[in-house]
Amino acid sequence: MSSKHARLDRFLSQRLGQSRREIQHLLAAGRVQVDGVTARDGQQRIGPFSRLQLDDQLLQARQARYLMLNKPAGVVSATWDSRHATVIDLLDNQVGDDLHIAGRLDFHSTGLLLLTNDGDWSRQLSAPENRVSKHYRVTLEKPINEEYVDAFAAGMWFEYEGITTRPAQLHIVAEHVADVVLTEGRYHQIKRMFGRFGNRVLTLHRSAIGGLQLDPSLRPGASRFLTAAEMLAINADYPPA
Ligand code: URA
Repeated sequence: MSSKHARLDRFLSQRLGQSRREIQHLLAAGRVQVDGVTARDGQQRIGPFSRLQLDDQLLQARQARYLMLNKPAGVVSATWDSRHATVIDLLDNQVGDDLHIAGRLDFHSTGLLLLTNDGDWSRQLSAPENRVSKHYRVTLEKPINEEYVDAFAAGMWFEYEGITTRPAQLHIVAEHVADVVLTEGRYHQIKRMFGRFGNRVLTLHRSAIGGLQLDPSLRPGASRFLTAAEMLAINADYPPA
């Protein structure tokens, strides 16, 4: 994963094995282009996806990639695991090589999982202050009632992390089924919250992140690139106001 924004002259000096003075000459001669524009300032910042050219030589041309995957149960949300298949194993070889997961799901959880090679983007998505909502359908061993709604909304003290969970929405769909909306992602958060009532989670499915819904035509294990509209939808409310 790379998200560093480097200084152009430092990057060029390392990449070309030339001194900073030599790089200054290249820049002054107008021989370097960043994203198609001639760059003359060595202090300019470049990102991991900036397209860099020296004359006709391409020095960097990485594409940012963003995918949604319908995670099946029994697969680990990790790039590598010694015992189980990972979500990366579900992707085409060429697609998976430099991707990481933006917001994990537990081994038995299913549904919308986002993958990317853009570290800035995934950090933004999980930054607590951005409060991007995550939407889950949960089935439970025991019946649920209004007490759960109040307890989720009030927040729960998590001893291990030393925090109180953010107000979470719980909507009772049926005796054993709830829709839960979180704006954070603590370890096993939903299971632990229902665990306070001694109620075991039987299935947990993520249906949306912000305004981005899991494509219902994606079978479990399938993935595809996000569209431009979906990229924007992530930061919008769901359901739309
Ligand atoms: N909460 C959980 O307990 N598990 C998940 O996979 C997601 C949220």
